[in-house]
Amino acid sequence: MNSLQSLTGVERHLGADAIVVSKTDLKGRITYANQTFLDIAGYVEEEVLGKPHSILRHPDMPRSVFKLLWDSIAAGQELFAYVVNRAKNGDHYWVFAHVTPTFDDAGTVKGFHSSRRAPRPEAVAVIRTVYRDMREEEARHANAKDAMAASLELLINKYIGHGRTYEDLVFSL
Ligand SMILES: Cc1cc2nc3c(=O)[nH]c(=O)nc-3n(C[C@H](O)[C@H](O)[C@H](O)COP(=O)(O)O)c2cc1C
Repeated sequence: MNSLQSLTGVERHLGADAIVVSKTDLKGRITYANQTFLDIAGYVEEEVLGKPHSILRHPDMPRSVFKLLWDSIAAGQELFAYVVNRAKNGDHYWVFAHVTPTFDDAGTVKGFHSSRRAPRPEAVAVIRTVYRDMREEEARHANAKDAMAASLELLINKYIGHGRTYEDLVFSL
């Protein structure tokens, strides 16, 4: 579904007040999507419920950003991230996302939740270049683990600096 041939190159834009919400189970399968999510992604509810969140995956997204995401939420922490998503027809749209675990009464992680809003165009202009560099680095490695490590290394060396995090970059944009 996410093949390059099926991308249109057309960008969709969220309204300034729009908030895109989804919830997932522990495996990242969608359990809830609000109408704004369905509208921007071009799906109806029945098409997304129970599906993996990667149905929105756009090939321009570095693998290592999703690794950061899953490492954070699996450890019980939230993460803010810039994400470009692929709509059902191959259009794309950028979001500024907050992803967080949800907990049951005993404090055990029971699923995940994400809210996104429209990113500032200036931030997208920067992050697009960062992600392109990271994707190019990932493409240089046959092994997925090596690719992710190299891309995170590039992110730190070229854009963030040692001792700082992806979120430091995100909040500096
Ligand atoms: C709450 C939540 C929201 C997510 N939102 C997105 C999203 O909007 N777009 C996306 O590509 N992946 C999203 N993901 C990450 C996907 O689960 C998946 O890791 C990613 O699409 C990469 O897929 P892949 O590992 O199959 O390549 C989300 C995960 C969670 C837990």
